Amino acid sequence: EMSLPAAGLTVTITAGPTREPLDPVRYLSNHSSGKMGYALAAEAAALGASVRLISGPVALATPAGVERIDVESALDMQAAAEAAASESDLFIGCAAVADFRPATVADHKLKKQSGEKQMQVTLIRNPDIIAGIAAQTQARRAAGQRAPLVIGFAAETRDVLRYARDKLARKQLDMIVANDVSTPGLGFGSDSNAATLLWQPLDQNTQHEQAIAACPKTELARAILKRALALH
Ligand code: C5P
Repeated sequence: EMSLPAAGLTVTITAGPTREPLDPVRYLSNHSSGKMGYALAAEAAALGASVRLISGPVALATPAGVERIDVESALDMQAAAEAAASESDLFIGCAAVADFRPATVADHKLKKQSGEKQMQVTLIRNPDIIAGIAAQTQARRAAGQRAPLVIGFAAETRDVLRYARDKLARKQLDMIVANDVSTPGLGFGSDSNAATLLWQPLDQNTQHEQAIAACPKTELARAILKRALALH
């Protein structure tokens, strides 16, 4: 393909899980594979964009032409994402950020005591990275400053569109990619996905939803970027 519709654009993408440390050898995390975020990064680069991929720990190769920034915790991911966002035209939050982290991180490996039958770990809420970037985006737009189009994901097991519409509004996103992760063979860890794209403004007079049938994540990535470029 000769035309590069994203040439000159800077795209920042978060991908993969975060790891929330408990002590020097242990962490809390999730099963995110990073495949969707990496597919988006590869497609955006193929469309000519300059791509920064802020990645949690995953077992994937860096796509050709993509600048990868490796992070572990949600706080590290937030710092990298906020530094990149205001310089970007498009921000896509694809990472499965841990909602909570251990309130304290022990300096040394925690030792079990003999006879100890249970232990308690206090968790505290992590910042919502994309909501913070979207709020900053609203402020920058109001001040006439450069700000990215902000796109989030909503992985749900029920009431997918209802929760996604709520997230789109509550987090002040420009677009959300809603997908049902309860469908066997799709979503988490899989190479395929089905989704509905929902975007602002949510009024009755304009079309603002697009269903995308089950397809490889690379194809879904292309559809998301095509819609994003149309909204940009
Ligand atoms: O609220 P929920 O976690 O379902 O929202 C998912 C969307 O929000 C994704 O785009 C995800 O990357 C983003 N998110 C975030 N920081 C968090 C939690 C979610 O950026 N702490």
